[in-house]
Amino acid sequence: MKEKSLKILVLGSGGREHALCWKIAQSPLLDKLYCAPGNGGIESVADCVTLDIESPDAVLHFAKEKAIDLVVIGPEGPLVSGLADTLIAENIATFGPVAAAAQLEGSKGFTKDICAAYDIPTAAYGRFKSAADAHAYLDTHSAPIVVKADGLAAGKGVIIAETDAQARAAVDDIFDGAFGEAGAELVIEEFMTGEEASFFVLTDGTHALPLATAQDHKRVGEGDTGLNTGGMGAYSPAKIVTPTLLEETMTRIIQPTLTAMADKGTPYRGVLYAGLMLTEDGPKLLEYNARFGDPECQVLMLRLKSDLVPALLATAQGDISSLDLEWYDEDAMTVVMAAQGYPGSYPKGSQINNLHAAVADTDTQIFHAGTKTENGKTLAVGGRVLNVTSKGQDLRAARDKAYTALEKIDWQEGFYRRDIGWRALGKS
Ligand code: AMP
Ligand code: GLY
Repeated sequence: MKEKSLKILVLGSGGREHALCWKIAQSPLLDKLYCAPGNGGIESVADCVTLDIESPDAVLHFAKEKAIDLVVIGPEGPLVSGLADTLIAENIATFGPVAAAAQLEGSKGFTKDICAAYDIPTAAYGRFKSAADAHAYLDTHSAPIVVKADGLAAGKGVIIAETDAQARAAVDDIFDGAFGEAGAELVIEEFMTGEEASFFVLTDGTHALPLATAQDHKRVGEGDTGLNTGGMGAYSPAKIVTPTLLEETMTRIIQPTLTAMADKGTPYRGVLYAGLMLTEDGPKLLEYNARFGDPECQVLMLRLKSDLVPALLATAQGDISSLDLEWYDEDAMTVVMAAQGYPGSYPKGSQINNLHAAVADTDTQIFHAGTKTENGKTLAVGGRVLNVTSKGQDLRAARDKAYTALEKIDWQEGFYRRDIGWRALGKS
């Protein structure tokens, strides 16, 4: 491939997309990088364009007009609604699965049925279209138990019921429309215990290349307490995923899933993200996502030594058999700075200062999520707002660099967890 030959369009506006754009922008193969809609940080590495990324026609029109060589779809919404199908039909190389394959994220029941048919370890479950049937199941399955809206619910559709009454209330709420269309069906599953890990592979539908491991922190409060969020911080590698567990995850979870998707005639191409519960009986699948994790992507990009662009292209073009990726040996950590009030409601428009001064070394990057730039000022306009991301010779060093940077950021309306990495650091 020739240097400076590719025009690339990244879709999304979060910290994940800033990290992807930051990495893509370093590729010698890149001619021009666009991001839609982008954010206040992405505009420093890409040309941000206003585009309705939920509209396949709008994206297709832009891609044709600018002669885009590769579209990278960041979030799940456009994947599940079929953006990749539209682009691929017009011969535009697209990183991200077609809608039928993105069902692995778009329908929890779909994934559970694949697990049952291909003997993939996961929590025992039932799948229901009516409240009466779900309640009948609860007559014989008691709490703790987990009730999940079937469809996309922005991470909010999972209720861990500690009592039978909570489980029944969750069933009624979902069927009463608490999550809209996403709750037309639900899954009830066994409550599993263990430590969670995020596991990513690049796949062309046949071959799967594991990426670095990571662990997210989903709860808003320190010590993993409080409400679930999109993720408050992550680190990589997650050493709890030993080489043996990695091998077991590949053979018992990932490969049978890819076989299942190929058997259905809808092979999965893109990054496949398995949320794992590492139980006493081995790794079990919690859920699949059809995209990179956010904030896990931020630590992966900081640790990736190889050029990302050939990997994205090979995946999009359907052959990763000769792909190999190199990673820095260092550990990386990202800490999310969120607006006070998140994951509930929060005010928008407060000003963030001192961002440039906070980045004291080349091992630290601040990836923006909910920010915009106005008259040269950085304003907070989202729930998760910044991802302060550092690498270091070990996890402690990465953590120290990230928290040193965080302390320098002047944003009174923000907050962050001070204990990212606590499980791993407690073991070292
Ligand atoms: P999901 O979106 O399905 O990954 O669920 C969100 C979070 O809920 C997971 O990261 C877990 O912390 C928790 N969770 C989901 N399913 C289960 C389960 N069967 N047992 C225990 N915790 C679960
Ligand atoms: N960090 C969790 C997710 O991306 O779903």
